[in-house]
Amino acid sequence: MRALILLAHPEPRSFNAHLATQAAEQLRRDGVQVEAIDLYAEGFDPLEAAHHHPQRLRRERFDAQREQRHSAENDFLPTDVRRHLQLLQATDLLILQFPLWWFAAPAILKGWLDRVLVYGPMYNSRLRHEHGAMRGKRALLSVTTGSSARACAVDGREGDTRLLLWPLMYSLRYVGFEVMEPFVVHGVRSGLPADRVQAHGAALAAATSDYRERLARWQQWPTVPFNDGEDFEEGGGLRAEATAHSPFIRHRDAG
Ligand SMILES: Cc1cc2nc3c(=O)[nH]c(=O)nc-3n(C[C@H](O)[C@H](O)[C@H](O)COP(=O)(O)O)c2cc1C
Repeated sequence: MRALILLAHPEPRSFNAHLATQAAEQLRRDGVQVEAIDLYAEGFDPLEAAHHHPQRLRRERFDAQREQRHSAENDFLPTDVRRHLQLLQATDLLILQFPLWWFAAPAILKGWLDRVLVYGPMYNSRLRHEHGAMRGKRALLSVTTGSSARACAVDGREGDTRLLLWPLMYSLRYVGFEVMEPFVVHGVRSGLPADRVQAHGAALAAATSDYRERLARWQQWPTVPFNDGEDFEEGGGLRAEATAHSPFIRHRDAG
């Protein structure tokens, strides 16, 4: 088995970097071949743009999807994208490790999706969802928030974290991954008053052990339900009899 761990955090001594290292250690201990990528350390450019596609299909106007497909078909993809694509194709498990920044993933990770989930080899109108290029592989979001678990609950002031992660989970599902329930550590703080530092450290240590224990059984980790293609009508609408799995795709009368 192989795993690919992608870290999106600018600080190598951060808790996020620690979780990425701990995951790699645990998986290696269990005989998994682990490849770890630190996007900041490798200076990953998250901006999809014309200069990444010098052998253009159309010079007058940059169309990202068509140029991605053209570059892929003609073997012109940038070296970093090609390498990440090969790693994705080889892996059985993908872990994206990141802190919640402005209710979403840091820009470097969003840009990784924009550039590496290449139109053509990674998805098209037939190659997606349950028929996606990554079918048979699993993906996990491992996330930290500064806000407390209470504030990140369904009725919390910060909004439901699991729901905030849905667009990212759906992107992974779009390219065919089986998406595991996200692993989220809340209340990861710095600059705490001295009397709270010890309890905070103990909570992070407990979360790390919990993560390692769960990763030791990653193939049994529960997955997120999504609608299959047959749940939708020709025009793209959810069939009346289909189950709605999240407020992002729901029945019209559901509010
Ligand atoms: C630019 C930025 C935006 C942030 N936005 C959020 C947010 O939307 N929700 C939240 O709970 N925490 C937010 N935080 C706090 C981080 O999630 C928190 O510092 C991080 O999870 C701690 O992990 P680390 O020690 O590995 O950095 C933000 C932090 C930064 C720097």
